[in-house]
Amino acid sequence: MTSSTVSSTPKGLNIFVTGATGRTGKYVVSTLLERDNVSQITVCVRNKEKFEKEFPNLKSNPRVVPFYIDLSNTATYPVSLSNFDAVIFTHSGSKFNGPIRMLRIILGLFWAEHPYYTEYICMEEFVKIAETSNSKVKFVVCSAVGLFNPWMLSTLLLNLLLSGTIKYKYLGTQWIRNSNLNYTIILPPDPNKTVVFNQRWKARDLPFGRITCPRETVAKLLCEAACDGNKGKRSTLNVWSEEYEESKSNKGEPIDLNWTNVRSDNDNDKLRFANVNFDTTYYTFIGLSLAATVVATKWLFPRQWETLGNSTKKLWRS
Ligand SMILES: NC(=O)c1ccc[n+]([C@@H]2O[C@H](COP(=O)([O-])OP(=O)(O)OC[C@H]3O[C@@H](n4cnc5c(N)ncnc54)[C@H](OP(=O)(O)O)[C@@H]3O)[C@@H](O)[C@H]2O)c1
Repeated sequence: MTSSTVSSTPKGLNIFVTGATGRTGKYVVSTLLERDNVSQITVCVRNKEKFEKEFPNLKSNPRVVPFYIDLSNTATYPVSLSNFDAVIFTHSGSKFNGPIRMLRIILGLFWAEHPYYTEYICMEEFVKIAETSNSKVKFVVCSAVGLFNPWMLSTLLLNLLLSGTIKYKYLGTQWIRNSNLNYTIILPPDPNKTVVFNQRWKARDLPFGRITCPRETVAKLLCEAACDGNKGKRSTLNVWSEEYEESKSNKGEPIDLNWTNVRSDNDNDKLRFANVNFDTTYYTFIGLSLAATVVATKWLFPRQWETLGNSTKKLWRS
């Protein structure tokens, strides 16, 4: 057995799913349950009561085994991944809570407080656990659109608007890319019509297009990648295609997004050794925006600008 093949036990595959109670995770679990070669789905659950109340069908299914874990607390992580054939990551970062915390995050203080820090630390720790336990596990990640190039306007804006989200997601997935493990990283767009300037999507750049992808489709691809080591092997996939968008707008009935029509990139060539610094783009963008605001104010309100300058000089001299 090579590291590229998912190792099926005589009983079948054992798949670990994070975020199983989430919107994408639920589809992942139901899709895996339809597959005969999956004997056990180990679902990562942080809130036992919520899981039992909201997912009675999962709770009573003998193929679904809950694993209680809080991904923001590494002490709750599994000590080994050697029993698992694949891990499907569909969790998200914790939600923002409170304006003070938000402000600290925007200012770049308290790194570990960022809501998406959980995603970063989770990837790092799971890679270490897999490597320590010499596991042949495959990592399949539901990440986010626009994670190829930090200088893309879409990535820049998303990172800025969501204060570092893209950066942490990227850094987390880089742990996986730089490991020797097999993996597939899927970059889904929003499931509910992402319309940006309502023009055609240009290759890999979000602001100039309109793309969508249902969560069921994302889940289907995640499950297929988890159950077959050669599907999307050591690749990052953009889960969208121009034909898919065209089929929706022209004919009404969208074509199926599958392994032949999604965009894939071989990370070994393009991303693995990329030295990406999201902070440079983040602060360059903020700096340029401030400079543009100053120039625009000076140009639009010359008299007020002069008065402000004179008052500042007086204040400085006194
Ligand atoms: N089209 C899309 O769906 C789309 C597009 C772009 C990116 N993504 C990415 O895909 C992923 C899944 O998105 P989603 O909309 O399905 O997420 P979601 O509905 O918000 O679900 C999040 C899941 O993560 C779990 N979780 C959060 N923090 C946790 C923690 N500290 N410990 C354990 N579990 C934790 C939640 O558990 P609880 O149930 O206990 O809260 C929940 O099961 C995210 O990373 C998202 O950024 C999705």
